[in-house]
Amino acid sequence: MLITRHAAAEAVLADPRYVPPPVRQDADEGTLAWLRAQVSRFSTGETHAGRRRLLEERLAALDPAELRTAARAMTLERGGDWRGVPTAVLGAALGVQDTSAVAAAATGYLSGEESPEADAAVAELLEQATIPEITLLLQGHAATEALIGNALGNAFENAPARAFEHAFEHAFEHAGPGADPEALLHETLRQDPPLKATRRLDTRTGDEVTIDLVSANRDPDVFADPDRFDLSRGRTPHLTFGHGVRPCPGPAHALALAAGVLDALLDASRS
Ligand code: HEM
Repeated sequence: MLITRHAAAEAVLADPRYVPPPVRQDADEGTLAWLRAQVSRFSTGETHAGRRRLLEERLAALDPAELRTAARAMTLERGGDWRGVPTAVLGAALGVQDTSAVAAAATGYLSGEESPEADAAVAELLEQATIPEITLLLQGHAATEALIGNALGNAFENAPARAFEHAFEHAFEHAGPGADPEALLHETLRQDPPLKATRRLDTRTGDEVTIDLVSANRDPDVFADPDRFDLSRGRTPHLTFGHGVRPCPGPAHALALAAGVLDALLDASRS
């Protein structure tokens, strides 16, 4: 079943009878498949609640304002080359100094696609961090980078974000009102979610349900003129960070990391 309406999406995400599709439990210790069987994201019931609590505790100890300042500083230090910055900043805050293995481990984390490269990356991370820290880094990595890339694409209406990745002197040059990082991020999250869909299994019937986040975020019952990219909307009830039983525990952190990168690009374009 495909869910495209906002109210129906919220109802499924809030109903504990809908669970994430199960992951395999028989993988060798230390592999990506093994990691997926240990984390909050793919577990249910009390196990999920307990694992999630540990993540929330780790996140509560981090100050989003400090993450933003650090992301800005690191982006400037790297001459505007922002790829890897959100993960490096989050890693440092969590006490994980070397985050170079995160991208490779994150590749198959959500999809479940196994590979020797992903297994090696997980093994490397396990040498310096525990499962909660690794979970936070893998969950946050691709989505936060995609948010920044999408926001830059939206700031430069007529040019692909890719063209600006290494050229921060041009960043935001033509952005106009889009130069407010927070407004740009909020509306980008609604219109252009990094994760386009999420899946659940109906435990009563065994049916798989796909929740189309792009469509739910453009439901005309909730968002006026939903296809218009409108920076004046501010915060909206979009479902990009999920909802209900297992929403993203890190929206403030994701926004702070992305805003810090944009702050740096904006500063550079003004200097
Ligand atoms: C723009 C960036 C991000 C987006 C769009 C995003 C989105 C989401 C969504 C939609 C879910 C729920 C998935 C579902 O219900 O099926 C989720 C879960 C999660 N996210 Fe994020 N996320 C982002 C960044 C982050 C960051 C930076 C962190 C860590 C600091 C993080 C940590 C997590 C964790 C640990 C879960 C699993 C929660 C659970 O098991 O209950 N996310 N995220």
